[in-house]
Amino acid sequence: MRFERHMFICVNARATGHPRGCCASKGGVEVASALKKAAYDRGLKGQIRVNKAGCLDACEEGISVVVYPEAHWYRGVTLADVDELVDTVLVKGGSVERLRSPKHPRTDAS
Ligand code: FES
Repeated sequence: MRFERHMFICVNARATGHPRGCCASKGGVEVASALKKAAYDRGLKGQIRVNKAGCLDACEEGISVVVYPEAHWYRGVTLADVDELVDTVLVKGGSVERLRSPKHPRTDAS
């Protein structure tokens, strides 16, 4: 594996009034940029990868974030969560329990 950890943040945009809403309208682009900057500010460039993603099919929970290889899904992520996610998930390999998505079954014991 090239990267130890890979984080995807939904930045999908839909038209105003779409019944599913979208993560872009909730600030997905800003959250994705802040996560990437925070990760790279901690010297993680080359070890981890932070990428904007299209719809992750968890729109009602957005802003949606998923991290591999753990396959940990996070929902309702805001700018206020950025430092905690980077420090706990990307630096330490842990999980931010209060943001974990109930929609996605856990595939591990963490
Ligand atoms: S629009 Fe973000 S998960 Fe669907």
